[in-house]
Amino acid sequence: MMDNKIGLIGCGAMGSALAKGMVKKVGVDPSLVHIYDINRERLDDLASELGVIKANDPEDLILKCRNIFIAVKPQDIESLLYSIKDFVQEGQIYASIAAGITINFIESCLPPDSKVIRLMPNTPCLLGEGTIAISTGENVTAEERDEIIDLLKSMGLTIRIPEYLMDAATGLSGTGPAYVFLFIETMIDAGVAVGFRRDVASQMVIQNIIGSARMLQDNKQHPAELRNSVTSPAGTTTAAMHVLEESGFRSCLLKSVIAATKQAEKLRRG
Ligand SMILES: NC(=O)c1ccc[n+]([C@@H]2O[C@H](COP(=O)([O-])OP(=O)(O)OC[C@H]3O[C@@H](n4cnc5c(N)ncnc54)[C@H](OP(=O)(O)O)[C@@H]3O)[C@@H](O)[C@H]2O)c1
Repeated sequence: MMDNKIGLIGCGAMGSALAKGMVKKVGVDPSLVHIYDINRERLDDLASELGVIKANDPEDLILKCRNIFIAVKPQDIESLLYSIKDFVQEGQIYASIAAGITINFIESCLPPDSKVIRLMPNTPCLLGEGTIAISTGENVTAEERDEIIDLLKSMGLTIRIPEYLMDAATGLSGTGPAYVFLFIETMIDAGVAVGFRRDVASQMVIQNIIGSARMLQDNKQHPAELRNSVTSPAGTTTAAMHVLEESGFRSCLLKSVIAATKQAEKLRRG
């Protein structure tokens, strides 16, 4: 009955990105994907866009699927898990993307020996350019983990980490896009300050970020090497770097990531 069917509970921003990636990019047969959301409209929209199967309720989905992704908000997960507990079947894998909800917590809500995977995605996953940190519970085999990783590849880069680093993954990567957005916003303001129209400054800054990231990805060089290569003696870059160092740019970024990680630790459940 369960075979290789995939279930998704929660069809919001992240859940729908996950389903779209699996069907449109990984090429999973839509008739093998069962979805459920308490929001009927969201459920109908995603089902008609992808041609996947709508479940009537979580139990209906649990009884049919083997790999089950849970993409509800952290505050909704406990009641959801209790509502499905009695329907859990041997061999099923439960992969949760809920921030701060530990494997231990999920296992404690499900029957003994349940197979649980925890994921931390970030918003660029919506475009297939995200980063997904992945940790597995002790009942999950390497093959089962790799099966889940294959389904996630369409959302971006998957990185296996031990679970104790999940809060750090939240601080560095889950929160990551916000650091970049703030940097871009400030650079655009700077472009306007030195005389560009905002739309022109915006184009230049965004392309600069994409190009610089591509250089790092392609050249496999350390960022400092690439930075040094554009820093000429008594030139413009060295003047800019001097101001950034004097203003504590690095220290500020380091402290921000550490603060986000500590906040994730405070919000952790389980
Ligand atoms: N967005 C991010 O950047 C990000 C990054 C990392 C991790 N995450 C994690 O991803 C998860 C989903 O986030 P999101 O931004 O996609 O949230 P979202 O857009 O609010 O989607 C959650 C969906 O689940 C539905 N839902 C709530 N309780 C349910 C239940 N018992 N059964 C079925 N569906 C239920 C919600 O319906 P209602 O709206 O009617 O409640 C909503 O449609 C969260 O746990 C979050 O921590 C998100």
